[in-house]
Amino acid sequence: MLWCDRIVTYTRRIDLRSDTVTQPDETMRVAMSAAQVGDDVLDHDPTMRRLEEEAAARLGMAAALWVPSGTMGNLIALTVHLRRGDRFLAPRAAHVLEAELGTAAWLAGGMPHALEWTVGPGRIGVEDVRAFATASAPYYALHTRLLCLENTHNFAGGTVTPPDEHALLVSAAREAGLLVHLDGARLWNASIALQVPPAALTVGVDTVQVCLSKGLGAPVGSLVAGSTSFVAEARRVRKMLGGGVRQGGVLAAAGLLALERIDDLAVDHANARRLAAGLAELGWEVGVPETNIVIAAVPDVAAALTSLDRVGVQATSVPGGVRFVTHRDVPEADINEVLRRINSARSTSPAA
Ligand SMILES: Cc1ncc(COP(=O)(O)O)c(C=O)c1O
Repeated sequence: MLWCDRIVTYTRRIDLRSDTVTQPDETMRVAMSAAQVGDDVLDHDPTMRRLEEEAAARLGMAAALWVPSGTMGNLIALTVHLRRGDRFLAPRAAHVLEAELGTAAWLAGGMPHALEWTVGPGRIGVEDVRAFATASAPYYALHTRLLCLENTHNFAGGTVTPPDEHALLVSAAREAGLLVHLDGARLWNASIALQVPPAALTVGVDTVQVCLSKGLGAPVGSLVAGSTSFVAEARRVRKMLGGGVRQGGVLAAAGLLALERIDDLAVDHANARRLAAGLAELGWEVGVPETNIVIAAVPDVAAALTSLDRVGVQATSVPGGVRFVTHRDVPEADINEVLRRINSARSTSPAA
């Protein structure tokens, strides 16, 4: 059943599939073309080094390493942390479980175990960590070695784990002898939503991965951060995976500018709230977003996406719902336009 019964052709499409669609603007392209560069595989690229130092400082970590993608950052961290016969814990539907093609298992060597969201969407409890962090397992059992957190939790709808809850999870993991990796692809969003520095959300972790290409306009790039010895090992693993680049300063220059734009994410969060409120007024079943991801529950996801597509609005699916992600390339006026298009196209049965 489709809620759209009128066909109007919209030539301008509004892309809310992901914040990864943001494009480098003119200022960023100029900064990229002016970047000072060197051979990063031979002896470090100066702009990449500047970005790594700046990111490490913001994250409260000793050192950081530029990597081409968030997926590679997570894989490098898990490869350094895990051995065959190990198990790692992560919240259900974490990106490392659902969207990285199982590389945590078949490349990093860890058996994944999903923890239920007992505290809230995307949020796990300390009791769950304790229950699965089996210290005295028999020799033939998996050895639980790592807790992999995700803040914000993408598929739960950009949900935020606050610093006190994060600290409790980390200390429960530590007490159980686990290492902790944080998938912070959107850690910047969490820090803006909570109005705390990013370093307040990395307290106690061994490693963290953050992205520059989500909502900040950088075309490519993530960082994986930890101790200096971790980063030395991570550099070797990055090379094994073919992720060592030469004159990467061209990309790092975009990353440096992206870091200066973190405060702008507040606009995306306001736009997400505006979108959610507007959808609710139109009869959609939607909660209040915590950051830049809006999830609307719909009975027929494919039909809802088709209807949106017909009015030139692009979104994606999550189980049982449609996901809209706000970002810097869709201003408030376009959010209003999205709502106007949905309203003008709908029949008497909204969001059906
Ligand atoms: C939570 C999370 N982790 C990791 C990634 C992977 O990042 P990339 O697409 O740069 O590989 C994503 C991508 O959307 C993500 O949402």
